[in-house]
This record gives sequence, C-alpha cells and structure tokens, in this order.
Amino acid sequence: MGNSISRRTLIKRGALLAGGFSIAGGLLETAQASPVIKSPSYSFPEVWSERDIPMDPIVPMKARLSANENPFGPCDKAKAAIMEALPTSYQYPFMALGDLVQKISDFEKVKKENILLSSGSSPLLMAAGLYYGKPGTNIITGDPSYADLPSKAERMGAKWVKVPLTADYKLDLDAMEKAIDANTSLVYICNPNNPTATVLDKDRLKSFCERVSKKVTIFVDEAYIDYLDDPQGTTLIPLVSSGANIIVARTFSKLYGFAGLRIGYVVTQPETIKKLTMYSEATWSISATTLHAAIASYQDREFLDAALKKTIASKNYLYEVLKKEGYTYVPSVANFVIFPIKMDGERFVGEMMKRGVSIRNWKFNSQDWCRVSIGRMDEMEAFASAFREIS
Ligand SMILES: Cc1ncc(COP(=O)(O)O)c(C=O)c1O
Repeated sequence: MGNSISRRTLIKRGALLAGGFSIAGGLLETAQASPVIKSPSYSFPEVWSERDIPMDPIVPMKARLSANENPFGPCDKAKAAIMEALPTSYQYPFMALGDLVQKISDFEKVKKENILLSSGSSPLLMAAGLYYGKPGTNIITGDPSYADLPSKAERMGAKWVKVPLTADYKLDLDAMEKAIDANTSLVYICNPNNPTATVLDKDRLKSFCERVSKKVTIFVDEAYIDYLDDPQGTTLIPLVSSGANIIVARTFSKLYGFAGLRIGYVVTQPETIKKLTMYSEATWSISATTLHAAIASYQDREFLDAALKKTIASKNYLYEVLKKEGYTYVPSVANFVIFPIKMDGERFVGEMMKRGVSIRNWKFNSQDWCRVSIGRMDEMEAFASAFREIS
C-alpha cells in the first residue's frame, strides 16, 4: 500500500483534527498529537475503493474528477424533500422505504419482492462478494473492471479470475464464458464498464445472461446505465421477472447526484435477496432524509436530461482538449473518459493533483492510463490548463 492515505487514516485524521477522539479497534485514542501529513501522497490503496479520494491539505482543489460523481446533482426537489423530512427524521422511515420500492417497482415493471434497497449499491456489492466468495470458488470479471465486489470475494478466499477486455475495450463475453468452471460461483458484468466507459451490445449481453445464468449466478452492475440513450432498452431487469438467476445493481450515486446521500438497490430473485441480507444491513442502513430525497427525484426527467446535457457538453470539451494535445481516448458512454498517457501513471496523478485536479490512473495492456470524470465546465477547464502544462 506504500504511503497512500487510506480511508481509515483520513477518517481518523478528520476526527483528530476536529479536536475530539476516535475509537479505533476498540481502543479510545486521545488526540494528544495531531497527525500532520507532511508530504501529500497520491497513490491509492491496494484494494481500490472510489471513496478513497486522495486529499491534499496544501493545494486547493479546483476540480474533483476522480470518483465519477455528478456535480450537477442532487436536484432541487431532492434538496427540498430533505428539508421537509428533517422534523420527522427521529422516526424510522418504514413508510418511505415502501414508497420508494413501489416507485421502482412501477417504473421497472418488476415485483416489489424482487427489490432490495441499500445505502448505495456498494453494501450490496460487498454482500455479494462475501456470499459468493467462499474459499474454493472463483469469481469471473473483466480486466480492468470495477474491483469492489471481486476484491471482497478474494478476501473471503475466492479466486478472482480476470479476463482481459477485447481490442475495443469491452468486456469479452466469449472469453468470460469459457473461463467458467465447476467452481465458478459468480460472473460479474459491469455494464457500462468502469474504468473504460464502454457498453456491450444489448442483445448479445441478454442472450449471454439467459444462457449462462442457467449455470451460474450473474451480477450485472448497471451503475452508469442512466447515461445511456436507452437505459430502459438496455437494462437486464426484465430478465429477473422471467426468473433468471441474475442480480442487477443500480445506484442513485451517478446521474442522480446522490453519491454523498447514499442510496442504491438490486433487483433479483427473492431467494437471492435472502442470501444478500445475511451479509448486509441493506434497507436499514438508509436515512429517512435520503429516502425522501430519492422518492422526490426518482425519474425527474427535467433534471436528469439537463444533467445529461451538461455532462455531454463537458465531455465534448474534454475530447477536443485531448485531440488538440495529440492524445487519443476511448469513446465514452458514461460520465468518465479513459485515455492513454505518456508518463508514469502515479507521477501523472501527482502532477495533476499539485495543480489542484484529482483524476485516477490505471495500468493495463502495458500502458499507463488516466481516467477523468466529467465535471462542471469550470472543472474541465481546470483539467485542461493543468493537463496542458504537463502533457
Ligand atoms: C461500477 C460501479 N458500481 C458501483 C459503484 C458504487 O456506487 P455506490 O455505492 O455509490 O452506489 C461504483 C462507484 O463508483 C461504480 O463505479
């Protein structure tokens, strides 16, 4: 892990700097000497979590383009709903939970018993990693792809089978199917894929899921599906209604702008919901305020379309900057873009961070890559001027 600032360190530092004390590992630690981070660190934890954002207390942040958030959200209706829900937020939100499940059920045309809510989709990815990651099993994913679920499974003792992407940076469904053996407990499909922002052909993915789910459970992570032209025609939620052994994960963290509010869900078979709830608080981890915000903003087309439009404008601007500087990029269907860089990835992240711009780096196909999230136009301009200095 090198000298990376872990989330635990950040939380602990935050608590200490606030002048209080923190309880770590069951011990009460008093803040006698406030830890000062002398030299900023830009590397990331071994097991990456999008939440482990590097923070530099010295350089003012101009653009936060490292966690694929939507800087245009949440919508005004969500903010008003939070204020309205505050006075009664001493109560457990039993009714609101049912209301949100009902809305999703109506819109997606799926039964309520197929839906499991949680405070973001991460707790459900983790629950799947813990349940399907038993020692002796293996989990198949693309490479590179979103590492959260398989990294948790690996920690439980499962083998993580990484299948390289195709030449056009998409998940290689044929190779993933070939990799399945008698010990495979789960196939994880991230569609659109993070970090490449590529999407699979919908008919091919559907027939893959119909066929393969007869042998093994498939987890389809649709975190970025709201950025597509036709989310309803692309989602695999209808396969759940036809009885397929798949888990479809969705989140409000992306286009809805709820990354800090925390709400997500899976749509799957009721018996799979039972398995996942063995490993997650799921529904009971959601705050009343967030629930009311989600109900108020669910399918708020006016807001979603405006956010999409601004995302596309910022993305087109980024494409132009990259082209002008002589860079290529992988065309993106989501709110982030990956492109090959001409220097060591960690150095690149560090140089950008020194200029107040956070981005992420990857290494695959013997090449260093930068993944830049799509932000507001002022953030993209900050990216552009920092990038021009070092490109
Ligand atoms: C592919 C993918 N799935 C799931 C998540 C987790 O999102 P959340 O826990 O905020 O719902 C992320 C976050 O970046 C992601 O990129």
